[in-house]
Amino acid sequence: VFLTTALMGLGYLCGACLGALWLCRLAGVGDPRLDGSHNPGFSNVLRLHGKRLAAATLAFDAAKGVPALWLAKSCDLPTWAQGLVGFGVLLGHSYPLWHRFRGGKSVASAFGVLLVLTPLVALVCAACWVVLAWRVHTAAVASLASAALAPLASVWLARDYVWVIIAFAVLVLVRHVWNIQRLGRGVEPRLDERHDDER
Ligand code: G3P
Repeated sequence: VFLTTALMGLGYLCGACLGALWLCRLAGVGDPRLDGSHNPGFSNVLRLHGKRLAAATLAFDAAKGVPALWLAKSCDLPTWAQGLVGFGVLLGHSYPLWHRFRGGKSVASAFGVLLVLTPLVALVCAACWVVLAWRVHTAAVASLASAALAPLASVWLARDYVWVIIAFAVLVLVRHVWNIQRLGRGVEPRLDERHDDER
């Protein structure tokens, strides 16, 4: 239990390093929390600063959980404990201590965590995200559909992780409340469109 808690804490600390903020700072461009959807994530970086920085943000946020998960696997933690370490990464991304608990929506982080824990589920969800983003042009629709698909896919592909993946999906859903409200009002912007909301 001590090791699980320690690695969950490490996962949280890794997750709380927001790729969008660090990389935008490094590139000398504006803070993504101040513009567009105000979300420090790859979709907002794509709208504000283009594909290269968005791809780097996606890669950073997907990779940041790897050290904690790798340790959890090397220490032979049971699957539920590995799942909790992954959940720590998502909590860190969405509620980062040093950004006054105002983080992102945990889509890229969840993808990275799933890629380590259960690659097949990660790939099914990524395929769903890409197809929907391509057809509907709305990141939130793609993310919400992928989050809904993940627990279903895990029933077939990764039964040991069903409960933890349900927790991931609930977190992603909660973090999309603003998007759901905008979708309801028909004002959710497309992925290729710059926007400002009223937050
Ligand atoms: O991956 C995050 C996405 O689902 C929503 O981001 O910037 O459109 O609010 P955004």
